[in-house]
Amino acid sequence: MLASGSGSNFEALVNYCRRKDVLVATVCLLIVNNPGCGAEARAERLGIPWILINHRDFDSRELHDAAITNTLKKEDIDLVVLAGWMRIITSELINAFPKGSLLNIHPSLLPAFKGGAAIADALLAGVVKTGCSVHEVVLDVDAGPILAQAEVLITKADDHESLSAKIHQQEHLILPPIVLAKARHLAQNYG
Ligand code: GRF
Repeated sequence: MLASGSGSNFEALVNYCRRKDVLVATVCLLIVNNPGCGAEARAERLGIPWILINHRDFDSRELHDAAITNTLKKEDIDLVVLAGWMRIITSELINAFPKGSLLNIHPSLLPAFKGGAAIADALLAGVVKTGCSVHEVVLDVDAGPILAQAEVLITKADDHESLSAKIHQQEHLILPPIVLAKARHLAQNYG
């Protein structure tokens, strides 16, 4: 998994994969780009190997993504999940894996509110509902095939914090089963 921030989706997925009925999916590695981020601390606590690949140490997005790709390939990773990965990713990473092997979770009902400020944008737009989407990653940002969505109602009392909490709750429910379904599919097709 790739994460830049708090890592709550990372933790939800780790816990899901550790259930006794989930046999084919294991979170093998967390890559973070921000030293000291919450995801890093969660990985320590959960006993999941993690590595910092800091984008500030690279001259371009492509070089950063090439370093990430090398690490993932070395670990023989089949499925890459971006959960709060606040970086635009390039063809270096996308083209290194078969189509559909990179997933992202985004805090809106795509195609509405793409980009890094999806929750703020939904509040600003005054819509009555938003939500979250799990989608395959393609070169265009937040644009790949949508695999699952969940709706969240916005009330007058909601602010960024409360809405974000409601969206996170739904994200933790929809992301893990989709990852499992993808893992099953990979296991069937590639053994
Ligand atoms: C989530 O809302 C996700 O949709 C977005 O970034 C947030 C990450 O949250 N891409 P967390 O780090 O998993 O808690």
